[in-house]
Amino acid sequence: MACARCHADGEGDGQLAARIGPIPPLASPTVAAMSTAEIEALIRTGRGAMPPHAKRLTAAQIRSAAAHVRRLNGLTP
Ligand code: HEC
Repeated sequence: MACARCHADGEGDGQLAARIGPIPPLASPTVAAMSTAEIEALIRTGRGAMPPHAKRLTAAQIRSAAAHVRRLNGLTP
């Protein structure tokens, strides 16, 4: 998936970390505190060194990625 080059399997610091700097893990207290809607918004618009994905992914792919991130945190989407 589009996220793995940076976030690896969720543990962060994937292969692009050498180029763009530290990449946070997707299972963390910070991410666990985010709602599904907030995660979807972050994926769409990006933040800092994370590029926006609104044009790279379909709405369904963004929903599914956000649901995956929630599950990585042991939460239901
Ligand atoms: C080009 C590298 C890159 C890609 C591709 C990328 N991310 Fe990120 N992501 C980052 C970086 C860097 C940050 C930290 C941004 C910051 O410092 O504000 C981040 C932050 C996040 C956060 C917030 C983490 C936190 O601790 O606040 C989430 C959630 C996230 N990404 C999910 C995703 C998902 C899901 C995808 C795929 C759809 C994705 N990212 C694709 C680089 C990337």
